[in-house]
Amino acid sequence: MPSQSFSFGIRDEESGYNENLFCIPKHYEEDLERVFIPHGLILDRTERLARDIMQDMGSHHIVALCVLKGGYKFFADLLDHIKALNQNGDKSVPVTVDFVRIKRYCNNSPAENISFVGEELSTLNGKNVLVVEDIVETGRTMKALLSKIKDKKPRMVKVVSLLVKRTRQSPGYRPDYTGFEIPDKFVVGYALDYNEYFRDLNHICILKENAKEKYRMR
Ligand code: HPA
Ligand code: MG
Repeated sequence: MPSQSFSFGIRDEESGYNENLFCIPKHYEEDLERVFIPHGLILDRTERLARDIMQDMGSHHIVALCVLKGGYKFFADLLDHIKALNQNGDKSVPVTVDFVRIKRYCNNSPAENISFVGEELSTLNGKNVLVVEDIVETGRTMKALLSKIKDKKPRMVKVVSLLVKRTRQSPGYRPDYTGFEIPDKFVVGYALDYNEYFRDLNHICILKENAKEKYRMR
């Protein structure tokens, strides 16, 4: 059965876990409402995503393209699992990396303009490209990035996103692989930020309302 016929959906009613059950950096103790996806669960799900991806893409050189900054933790852990498959399986393929940075969020609302910073992406020509993203919400950013990538004439393009948020504005874009489908809540941690804070937190958590004010961009 194709692996992506399964989806790890987290229901709207899911409240997560009390943060006192886990280790949280002292500087964020006051700021978090709940732990939503514990770090261990993220890693376990990532291990399976790596296997599914290698099954589909693992016959030809892969360029893993990390969407910065929010994608960097997921990217690093996903590539560790892909490397493990490459070094323990009967077959293996070279995996090279590239990075693109997208500026988008300011004080929790989508910035009007999406801008790409850095790479010209010439390394993607003729390769199997795996775009690694932290979260897909409206899908607007991903569509813009994909059109830029396709200009480089890759052999194949697949998108893996750790999170997909169910929102009313979702225009129906779905990544090829999804870690977790989550309710329409603002989450931080595991490299997802609020105004650059909370990337240094292992678990994916829900912010307290007053934390949004405390870390507001001025
Ligand atoms: N958290 C952090 N960054 C985001 C989110 C979120 O919930 N949604 C889109 N970008
Ligand atoms: Mg992102």
